[in-house]
Amino acid sequence: MRFKDKVAVITGAASGIGRATSLAFGAEGANLILVDIDESGLAEVAGSLPTDCQFDLIVGDVSKEETSLAVARVANKIYKRVNILFNNAGVETVAPLHETTEEMWDNVMDTNLKGAYFMTKQCLAFMIDAGGGVIINNASDAGLRGIKYSAAYSTSKAGLIHFSLSTAVDYASKGIRCNAICPGCIRTPLCERFNENVGKRKGITGAQALQEFVDDNIPMKRVGECDEVAKVVLFLCSPDAGYITGAVIPIDGGLTAGM
Ligand SMILES: NC(=O)c1ccc[n+]([C@@H]2O[C@H](COP(=O)([O-])OP(=O)(O)OC[C@H]3O[C@@H](n4cnc5c(N)ncnc54)[C@H](O)[C@@H]3O)[C@@H](O)[C@H]2O)c1
Repeated sequence: MRFKDKVAVITGAASGIGRATSLAFGAEGANLILVDIDESGLAEVAGSLPTDCQFDLIVGDVSKEETSLAVARVANKIYKRVNILFNNAGVETVAPLHETTEEMWDNVMDTNLKGAYFMTKQCLAFMIDAGGGVIINNASDAGLRGIKYSAAYSTSKAGLIHFSLSTAVDYASKGIRCNAICPGCIRTPLCERFNENVGKRKGITGAQALQEFVDDNIPMKRVGECDEVAKVVLFLCSPDAGYITGAVIPIDGGLTAGM
């Protein structure tokens, strides 16, 4: 029970990595404020939490400031604190730059980057008052280097990495740690959609596109599982990681090791 009485805000909690992380925090005693645009997905996660887990669900779009304000209202009313923030909500684009419309560009930047800005701003206020807290930003291997058909997505994730570094530097003196994780290829609906779209461009199926990518690029020759990411997030939020801030941590089976 590493997180008993801690309050954790998790965005993109209804699916994939966010879902697994929410369940892992719930199993370790945390009180949860779960955020997602997908109301039915959030309800499913809520139904999978331990019965003694205290949680609130906020259905909202992280790219709108009102969603972060709703989180702050709930945290203030019920707990008067936020100890942990996992900025995880994200969307992908699969297109080279000349095919990336303004709408695609804005959607990916607003969700992946501006959403983290709004949510961090609100949660930092609680952490500064309390003299401590932990923030984890879910970036990507795509933020560490360019990848095919991902100009907007890669750019947003590179931005999120520097957002994490700046947050770490500015708030270390307030007892607040901030780290970025860079998952590689993790088995989630996002990964499936991404490979379907890459496959269409190559005239192969999504499953074939994924297998090709794994065979050609991942030294461990397999896709990662959501639990393998959740475990790292929980470690980084625990006192065992008390001296880690400003780190950018690949969770990718070696994908970016040889780049
Ligand atoms: N799966 C991978 O291979 C992989 C690799 C690197 C990074 N990531 C990152 O991990 C994070 C989680 O992705 P996932 O793979 O679990 O995907 P997913 O699609 O399974 O989950 C993403 C969740 O975010 C929610 N969401 C999307 N836009 C939102 C918005 N505007 N407001 C609120 N919620 C929103 C979705 O409804 C969904 O529940 C993303 O930031 C993604 O970029 C994933």
